[in-house]
Amino acid sequence: MSKISEVSNWKYSKFLKNEKNNFNKNSILKILPKLFIDEAYNVISRWNNYFPTPLISLKKLSKKLNLNQIFYKDESKRFNLKSFKALGGAYAVEKITDGNKEIIISTATAGNHGRSVAWGSKNLGLNCKIFISKYVSENRAEVMRSFGADVIRVDGNYEDSLNECIRQSKKNNWQIVQDVAWKDYILVPKLTMAGYSVMMKEISEQIKIQKISHIILQAGVGGMAAAMVAGIARYLDHVPQIIVVEPESAACVLASIKNEKIEKILIEKESIMGGMSCGEVSLIPWEILKNSISYCVTVSDEYVSKTVKLLARGEFSSEKIVGGECSTPGIIALIGLCNDKQIKDQINLNVDSNVLLIGCEGDADENLYQELLKKND
Ligand SMILES: Cc1ncc(COP(=O)(O)O)c(C=O)c1O
Repeated sequence: MSKISEVSNWKYSKFLKNEKNNFNKNSILKILPKLFIDEAYNVISRWNNYFPTPLISLKKLSKKLNLNQIFYKDESKRFNLKSFKALGGAYAVEKITDGNKEIIISTATAGNHGRSVAWGSKNLGLNCKIFISKYVSENRAEVMRSFGADVIRVDGNYEDSLNECIRQSKKNNWQIVQDVAWKDYILVPKLTMAGYSVMMKEISEQIKIQKISHIILQAGVGGMAAAMVAGIARYLDHVPQIIVVEPESAACVLASIKNEKIEKILIEKESIMGGMSCGEVSLIPWEILKNSISYCVTVSDEYVSKTVKLLARGEFSSEKIVGGECSTPGIIALIGLCNDKQIKDQINLNVDSNVLLIGCEGDADENLYQELLKKND
């Protein structure tokens, strides 16, 4: 069926208020400095075929939920790479190699980050080695090979692929371009986040004089969410309520906010939202997120294919939208929060609200996207 009317009984899974919320522009911009953010925009906006991705109004959904506006940043159009990740890895490759063509790049990836790193390496004529886990589809591997990367499959999960990447990179003197930070590995993840913040620069211009009241940000290891928070600190005068959404099976940000320190969680079942199926928030994002997010919410996989279909059929907006699995949780969370009258009131979601959602990816995994479209639910 896939009609907008079906969303009336959708639910979020968990909701948590961040008692430590104390948004502070200056401390955020100490962690991801304005200089980094501005440089990323200056560089990326000069790349071939750069244009801001569309900011679509989900008019039908805002009417249904009784909100003023729902903006949807459509990253399916990002440089033909079909996800916001195009902004991060490729930018970090360019900055870290600084014109040196001898450097061999390496990374571990769930898919989209590696695609960006492979694409950036190809554009600069650099060799590139990409490590993937057994969970990454052959389809995604093929796309990275099409950009000239050597793709190395590791028998294990994402963490195993990262460990193998680090081991081989140390041995062969390859330059790792990773989107997660660890002790002594800080600069590249910061550059990656600076690249992502270009989305907020574009949004700040696209909304013109309108004020965003709420922003819902997906998190895997938290890089994208923290980059957007830094973008808010850099570009917006009005600070919206910041809500982080995660799959219920991989809610590492929620667990960390709850316990006021980084918590590693055990993922018992991989979420269909593969890019967000992460067990531990990254160091730099955590430093930004811990005091700046207002709420955490989790959602189940149950509504993912339904949302993909509703987007594709133009049930939320006047246009049809290609949104992959990781584009759905913001929509699902918003619907779930609005369906809970008490929470809706508590967080001031009402007729005056302008909500920003990030449509992180299009059909980046074409096979999975087709499966989700065809799923009979
Ligand atoms: C495709 C994709 N990968 C990964 C992520 C997670 O990004 P990060 O790991 O920086 O939190 C997202 C969004 O949350 C996404 O849409």
